[in-house]
Amino acid sequence: MKSLNFLKSSFIIRFTLCVGLLYAGQLAAQDGDAANGETLFKNNCASCHNPGDQVVVGPGLKGIQQRRDLAWLVKWVKNPNGVIASGDQYAVDLYNKYGKAQMTAFPSYGEKEVKDILAYVEKYNTAPAVVAVPGGGAAQPAGTTSGPSDLFTYLLVALLIVMLLVLGVLMTIVSVLSKAVTGTEGTQATGETFMERLRGGLTTFAQNKAVRTASVWFFILMATKATLDGMYGIGIQQGYAPKQPISFSHKLHAGQYKIDCNYCHTGVNRGKSAHIPSANICMNCHGVIKKESPEIQKIYAAVEANKPVEWVRVHNLPDLAYFNHAQHVNVGGVQCVQCHGEIEKMEVVQQRSSLTMGWCIDCHRKTEVNTKGNDYYTKLVSLHKTTTKESLKVADIGGLECSKCHY
Ligand code: HEC
Ligand code: HEC
Ligand code: HEC
Ligand code: HEC
Ligand code: HEC
Ligand code: HEC
Repeated sequence: MKSLNFLKSSFIIRFTLCVGLLYAGQLAAQDGDAANGETLFKNNCASCHNPGDQVVVGPGLKGIQQRRDLAWLVKWVKNPNGVIASGDQYAVDLYNKYGKAQMTAFPSYGEKEVKDILAYVEKYNTAPAVVAVPGGGAAQPAGTTSGPSDLFTYLLVALLIVMLLVLGVLMTIVSVLSKAVTGTEGTQATGETFMERLRGGLTTFAQNKAVRTASVWFFILMATKATLDGMYGIGIQQGYAPKQPISFSHKLHAGQYKIDCNYCHTGVNRGKSAHIPSANICMNCHGVIKKESPEIQKIYAAVEANKPVEWVRVHNLPDLAYFNHAQHVNVGGVQCVQCHGEIEKMEVVQQRSSLTMGWCIDCHRKTEVNTKGNDYYTKLVSLHKTTTKESLKVADIGGLECSKCHY
């Protein structure tokens, strides 16, 4: 009864919390569209602002509606320099406080965009647990484990345990039997030490046919597994996480400060390579932030010497394979996390997926093509529907053709 009551009350608490959160979201959304605001914010403001109260390049935007009124905010976002130049005391003080860093102007923004962003900031601060999940609900790291080989390991371990148990049972039987023998034929056994009996028992045990067959099979299996693993493992670098010349942390930049991946990896939407940012991109912020840190000094040294920072490459396909980021990220709508794991939680980048051909193919077989709003696919989809009820998968548009991935 007591536990039932507890269940009931915990249910009620959760229910109330959910309704409360929904309501809070609703309240914030009344004025502006928080979802749209989130997109706008993440794409345009997150590189310099945190929606909470942390300082990135500019101030955290928490409580901004209490600090400034809407008219001022619209004016500011449209043209920050104009507001500063107009002699607005608040703006001038702010500008000086943040080391005279220039905020980007968004001349195309109006009341609607600013309201949406404010709604998002409000929502972020009222229900952080709900909105603070980076990448939305799509965080489904695919192919981060190598299923079959794990299964094989489990099977082998299980087999090993069973064999040890059998061994134990057999040993007991042998010892019981040998005791029985010594009991009935006492004369013969007198003087036989424990060690001699044990040796005798073990010999009988080792001569047992079933035991011998089992052991032979066991060793064959182990050897096969080791060989297979070795062969499959050639060239696979899953888990590779080299030390980098500057201790750059994604957990800090992409996780804590929510800097968009795109801000640094400018190629992901446009081309084959994602690009590693040049030191100049770092300098956008580190021209003013943490100048004194020895790690940041390394960036300065690279810029002064006009030499690129020598980052160690983590992901690397062999030359025979062709992979294109824009195709996956921009056209296909695949999230970084699906292939790279949760980079925003990594202090040091680690290769989470195997990057094997099987991994690519596996995803192409399972993943539906993102055809929404893409006229290119309209005809293909209707054609596909006439032949099968299955949804259009990457495999159906040629994702399994050798020549698509091999030069
Ligand atoms: C390149 C960096 C950068 C970007 C991008 C940026 N800001 Fe700013 N923002 C700043 C800086 C720096 C300040 C502090 C004032 C200054 O130095 O000009 C600031 C100040 C503000 C303020 C005033 C904060 C306060 O506490 O009074 C608001 C509001 C603001 N920004 C909104 C936005 C919005 C909305 C966006 C996106 C549409 C955005 N900013 C994009 C750098 C940026
Ligand atoms: C402030 C700039 C910055 C941001 C933001 C950033 N990265 Fe990076 N990223 C780097 C730098 C610099 C490296 C090279 C050093 C390293 O490996 O840590 C790198 C390396 C990587 C690598 C490994 C590249 C290789 O060598 O194979 C991946 C994958 C990656 N980033 C993904 C992401 C994802 C996903 C995000 C967003 C969640 C992101 N990055 C955000 C700067 C950034
Ligand atoms: C959009 C702004 C921004 C960009 C771009 C950026 N950083 Fe940072 N970085 C920060 C902030 C904010 C901190 C935290 C500073 C603090 O702890 O006070 C930081 C901290 C660091 C630190 C830790 C410093 C220390 O000693 O604590 C390192 C190292 C670093 N960044 C390297 C880089 C590198 C390398 C790049 C370019 C690939 C880069 N950052 C680009 C904003 C940025
Ligand atoms: C469909 C899987 C997939 C997705 C999605 C994906 N990547 Fe990659 N990424 C790869 C592969 C495979 C490589 C290795 C490419 C090579 O060696 O040619 C790679 C390499 C990289 C590199 C190293 C530089 C380069 O281009 O070779 C960076 C940085 C990177 N990815 C960042 C990102 C970011 C940021 C996102 C999300 C916007 C992302 N990736 C989305 C599979 C993916
Ligand atoms: C997480 C799932 C996923 C993984 C892993 C993945 N892909 Fe893809 N791939 C897609 C999707 C989705 C598309 C469809 C994009 C579109 O709409 O054109 C695609 C399309 C492609 C295409 C174009 C196919 C065509 O007919 O237009 C090529 C080439 C390709 N991928 C290569 C690779 C290679 C090489 C790898 C492994 C290194 C890989 N992919 C890994 C999801 C994935
Ligand atoms: C979706 C992309 C994709 C498709 C389709 C694809 N491959 Fe691959 N293939 C790869 C990648 C990535 C590698 C490199 C990783 C590895 O060795 O597993 C690879 C490796 C290989 C290798 C091994 C080369 C070596 O040195 O180990 C051979 C052989 C190969 N592919 C042949 C084929 C043939 C034949 C087809 C058509 C039936 C095909 N591939 C279709 C992506 C693909």
